[in-house]
Amino acid sequence: MKKTIRDIDVSGKKVLVRCDFNVPMQNGEITDDIRITSALPTIRYLIENNAAVILMSHMGRPKGEPKPEFTLKPVAERLQKLLGQEIIFAQSDVVVDAGVEAAAAALKPGQVMLLENVRYRKEETKNEEPFTGQLAALGEIFVNDAFGTAHRAHCSTAGLAAYMPAVSGFLIEKEVKFLGDALEEPERPFVAIMGGAKVGDKIPVIKNLMKKVDTLLIGGGMTYTFIKAMGYDIGTSLLDEESIDLAGELLAQARHDGVNLMIPVDSVCAREFSNDSEKIVCDSTAMADGYMGMDIGPKTVELYSDVIAKAKTVVWNGPCGVFEMPNFEGGTKAIAQALADSDAVTIIGGGDSAAAVEQFGVADKMTHISTGGGASLEFLEGKELPGIVCLEEK
Ligand code: 3PG
Repeated sequence: MKKTIRDIDVSGKKVLVRCDFNVPMQNGEITDDIRITSALPTIRYLIENNAAVILMSHMGRPKGEPKPEFTLKPVAERLQKLLGQEIIFAQSDVVVDAGVEAAAAALKPGQVMLLENVRYRKEETKNEEPFTGQLAALGEIFVNDAFGTAHRAHCSTAGLAAYMPAVSGFLIEKEVKFLGDALEEPERPFVAIMGGAKVGDKIPVIKNLMKKVDTLLIGGGMTYTFIKAMGYDIGTSLLDEESIDLAGELLAQARHDGVNLMIPVDSVCAREFSNDSEKIVCDSTAMADGYMGMDIGPKTVELYSDVIAKAKTVVWNGPCGVFEMPNFEGGTKAIAQALADSDAVTIIGGGDSAAAVEQFGVADKMTHISTGGGASLEFLEGKELPGIVCLEEK
């Protein structure tokens, strides 16, 4: 177990806190602030416990250069509103300069400052000096609360731990508890739903989950690589050509290990990848020529909903169809509803599945929605995340 901010004395200390404020933006406006609100418990605790708080984050991928479209200024403004106190925004193209050093040195207990996008510096993503040392010189304690970036070994997510006491914030603690408990001590039946386009991307996570779950439900674009591996035609459906053999191996492994690996028995199909394309339902063993699978079909929805209704733990990563198109959202929506109706512990891996439960208005019915897309996937793969490994043990 990793130490958290509860386990150390932060009073009167300058505390460097890595958050993941990589929020979606449209025309300079934040369109979803869940990653900011998720960081508030840690920030509030530090304020209440008399720490001077220096926040760090990245935004997008500016590739080591200051790019105005990736500034954290809008985040500073939103955070100021949410916290109801001043956020000193340390605007600097190089993130740390003499002015920022002076502002950090003058920061009083209870005050909060936010540094500029750490990825304005090319060293950040390489975990290189002199940037780590420059950040380290600003504070005395390192708190990592950026679960969404915990799979990256960067200066501000892992490098800082070599310089000072390093502990986790409440968000990382919570994510590790929900995702970790689901993997290690799930109440059974334990069901995982894996969707998304490319099997290749999800092979490691499917392999790891197969060792743990009772039933694994496959959905989304990767369905068709499995159906191809089973020897059926898939029309013009998405095919991850390189992964056909791997999909076949997963099917064989499931049979061997006695895992119930379920592949959709039918699909909603269309001629074009377009919401307006005419749609038909095809059985997986009889996909129509010239049509592509866009969503799981009604028989699959029924089968999967039944499995979910009996589950005690459900982990969901990746949508079941093209839920961005209203005509092909039905499968993903029905699965979201099945989770909402179930009394199982329901855990949503970040990214698209988190967006789906939001879109279908059932987010508040889930036990836990991860703030990490790539990070939660790597966690579910069983990998050690560098931003967590580097923190002190209790
Ligand atoms: C994310 O949105 O998944 C995280 O903020 C990590 O971003 P990255 O993939 O650019 O490292």
